[in-house]
Amino acid sequence: MAEHKHGPHGPGGFRKPKDFRGTLGKLMGYLGRYRALLFVVAALLVVSSACTVGGSYLIKPLINNYILPGDFPGLARMLALMALVYIAGAACSFGYARIMVHISQNTVAKIRAELFGKMQDLPLKFFDAHTHGELMSRYTNDIETVSEALNNSFGSLVSCTLNFTGTILMMLVLSPLLSLITFAALAVMLLVVKHVGSRSRRYFAAQQKAVGEVNGYIEEMIEGQKVIKVFNHEQAAKEGFRVRNDAYRQAGARAQIYAGVMMPAMGNLNYVNYAVTCCVGAMLAIHGGSFRLGDLAAFLQYTRQVGQPVTQISQQVNTILSAVAGAERIFEIMEMPPESDGGRVRLVRAEANETGAVTRVHRDTNAWAWMKTDGTLVPLRGDVRFDHVVFGYDENRTILHDISLFAKPGQKIAFVGSTGAGKTTITSLINRFYEIQGGTITYDGIDIRDIAKESLRRSLGVVLQDTRLFTGTVADNIRYGRRDATDEEVEAAARLAGADAFIRRLPQGYQTVLSGDGGSLSQGERQLLNIARAACANPPVLILDEATSSIDTRTEKIIEKGMDRLMAGRTVFVIAHRLSTVRNARAIMVLEQGEIIERGDHEDLLAQRGRYYQLYTGQAELS
Ligand SMILES: Nc1ncnc2c1ncn2[C@@H]1O[C@H](COP(=O)(O)OP(=O)(O)O)[C@@H](O)[C@H]1O
Ligand SMILES: [Mg+2]
Repeated sequence: MAEHKHGPHGPGGFRKPKDFRGTLGKLMGYLGRYRALLFVVAALLVVSSACTVGGSYLIKPLINNYILPGDFPGLARMLALMALVYIAGAACSFGYARIMVHISQNTVAKIRAELFGKMQDLPLKFFDAHTHGELMSRYTNDIETVSEALNNSFGSLVSCTLNFTGTILMMLVLSPLLSLITFAALAVMLLVVKHVGSRSRRYFAAQQKAVGEVNGYIEEMIEGQKVIKVFNHEQAAKEGFRVRNDAYRQAGARAQIYAGVMMPAMGNLNYVNYAVTCCVGAMLAIHGGSFRLGDLAAFLQYTRQVGQPVTQISQQVNTILSAVAGAERIFEIMEMPPESDGGRVRLVRAEANETGAVTRVHRDTNAWAWMKTDGTLVPLRGDVRFDHVVFGYDENRTILHDISLFAKPGQKIAFVGSTGAGKTTITSLINRFYEIQGGTITYDGIDIRDIAKESLRRSLGVVLQDTRLFTGTVADNIRYGRRDATDEEVEAAARLAGADAFIRRLPQGYQTVLSGDGGSLSQGERQLLNIARAACANPPVLILDEATSSIDTRTEKIIEKGMDRLMAGRTVFVIAHRLSTVRNARAIMVLEQGEIIERGDHEDLLAQRGRYYQLYTGQAELS
């Protein structure tokens, strides 16, 4: 899984966003509806900072006005006031954190929903260009960093900045002279943070990358466990893991050392600052004048606090930067053009007279018709034609050259040819998974570009070699073909496919819950469910792409019976591995490198003694 190689944050680890302001603006756009709450948060942040900073200031009157003169009732009142201030501060922090959790969780849920919704609307081309892991990391890493930043970092950044500014101000108020010492210490601290920070960012980036590699390796090895065992590759797998794990350990150690060095170094620097301030402050206080013991105590309290925000601010800025970078990657997907669909011809239920001509739209019939934009009805028959079709997945590389063919209603057309000849590609064009570059494809005489995609795809059934089942019951999986199918219809579809017998032997029959892509079923059983699903949809046109390729010959016999029943009365495009399954096709197209090099029925093609003859007699390898 190559996408894991760079870890969640790309090759640069804490990759800086390309357009920081723009992306932050969009992210803030999501917070717009919480404007009122955000004002409350801002107010709470200010009050909480004021309490934290102000509470320390109270030490000055506490000592100067009550302890030194020995006024004990006053002291008690003062202590109570201090407690009140600190409690108020804590309550405010709790309040803003609680509100931010609400805002951030709702916002992140909304972003997640929009991202998922968007993904359903993107064309297949998009999924060709992005790997599974790459897309997953949008949901896991990127959304998580955004969530983390909204939960904590923005609030902390503001509160640290307020505390820092407040503390500096109070120090200046208490003693400008002593403040100079702290400023000098802060300057040194900033230099250290800058230096250590850039190093630690680099090591954290390396660590992220190493994590990605270890995870990617584990994922690959889990998925390939069977193959590993078959080829006795356990030792090599362990060795491969050892190398990656070692790299991770090293990178992790470096990152942790730097992160671990930063805080203690700051702490020690601040102790030096504290000690020096203490000496100079004591001399000032002993000297007499307006700077008294209470002032010193309050000032020292600030000296202890002033260092913390510096490190915290730099950490929060990092988190926010990576969150904005993550948000940028999310918005990139959200802003991609959705699968375009200019088609306006729709499938409607219509009533047909004895001659087969549709007369009017009627909800309660089982006949279907295309309704054109001007209201005319064309009966759904399943007539598919390719007229000089040219296509390439990208413009520079043409895959199909000038393909012309037709399938009249009820005819079976077969494609044969070696791997990569373009058989699957032809069938995905009928579905309009991709846009063609030249020529036209018509369905019942209507250009498929004029047909609404949903209607077009409803009129087509596809059975692929890749049998994908979803978590849910057997019945649900069959009903995937048509969501409003009744239980009777589901069972009828299963019987037609020949799946009924094995389903009844399952522990809960049709209600048996399949999970993990139906892993407990055999390949043949999964394929039977796939066929039942297509039967349930009951489309006039069927596409069978190597549907029996990965099945043993005995199971294939059962499946073929189901498939024959499924094919009866429908237009069928069949791509088959075994030439025996295409023999009875009305026309067989022999494809080579995106061109139809031979066509005709089985007898014609054999008589031509060309490529098909070679394939059939085993003189040429079939994919
Ligand atoms: N999603 C895709 N993106 C880019 N190229 C593709 C894609 N799918 C198939 N191809 C290319 O198109 C050609 C035809 O592939 P395909 O139609 O799958 O062949 P077949 O089904 O006959 O084995 C191959 O060269 C293949 O590499
Ligand atoms: Mg194929």
